[in-house]
Amino acid sequence: MHNYLPTDKMAELISQDYSLLQVMSRFNIPLGVKEKSVDEVCRTNGVDTDTFLAVLNFIGNACNHKYIADPATLSLPSLMSYLRQAHNYFLDFSFPAIRRKLIGAVNGGGDNESALLILQYFDNYVREVRDHFEYENAIVFPYIDSLIANTPTAFNIDTFSAQHDSAAKKLTELKNIIIRYYDAPAGSYALHDALLDIFGCEEELKAHGLVEEHLLVPAVKLLEQETSAQKEKAEQESDDEESSSTLTQREKEVIIHVVKGLTNKEIADKLYISLNTVLTHRRNIARKLEIHSPAGLTIYAIINGLVELKDVSL
Ligand SMILES: [Fe+2]
Ligand SMILES: [Fe+2]
Repeated sequence: MHNYLPTDKMAELISQDYSLLQVMSRFNIPLGVKEKSVDEVCRTNGVDTDTFLAVLNFIGNACNHKYIADPATLSLPSLMSYLRQAHNYFLDFSFPAIRRKLIGAVNGGGDNESALLILQYFDNYVREVRDHFEYENAIVFPYIDSLIANTPTAFNIDTFSAQHDSAAKKLTELKNIIIRYYDAPAGSYALHDALLDIFGCEEELKAHGLVEEHLLVPAVKLLEQETSAQKEKAEQESDDEESSSTLTQREKEVIIHVVKGLTNKEIADKLYISLNTVLTHRRNIARKLEIHSPAGLTIYAIINGLVELKDVSL
């Protein structure tokens, strides 16, 4: 187990654990890293160092929860570009390679009928995963972009995480079917080769899903909380501004009842509010209008068209 640091040499780190090459390629970091540190390489390639290390440490430690980074240190644009790149990798590279090997195995003899069923199963699986990735690309990531731009669309990340799975389950099933039940002729290298790829792909898909659940979702939740706190603050400020000068609808209703001669208790009953709330409204009205007597309120109400002369109790 390693906890990689920004000062570590990129080349040494890849040599220690070659599976980290994938993380590099999905962050669009080319090889030829010379003696540069992780931080230098990331900066040169416009990748957020903390986010790169967060993914590297999480995946490099078998998605161990001990290595989950603080969501506040993650860059969502970097993380999304990593995940998008991974989607492309699975769809354009990993799945077609497995399919080619499965076809090779089918042509290599053995039980052809079950081989075709296996191929069909695989194709259906790829379609499902494509839908899963497209949902993320078309709905989830644009929502995150809108949050970053501070103009959030109607969605929230809980909706996503509630129904999210790693998309690896069916591949596990396929792997088990082939291992346990497929009657391949001896010496069928192609099928074993395809199986090896399926094992690798299954691991990678699991890790991909876990990065989404344990790095992406918490970082988005944090941003959602910040955005809604900001919005609440702005609303509070505009309320405060309003309450310092103009009357609210409720305050106008209280005035109407006062000038009609109702007692505070009667007003409370009529508006389904507590006596205390009525008293607060009356204090606010007096402060805003600088009018303290019921007679003064009557004049104000008539001049401002809140009541007609015939309705007031003089
Ligand atoms: Fe994904
Ligand atoms: Fe996903």
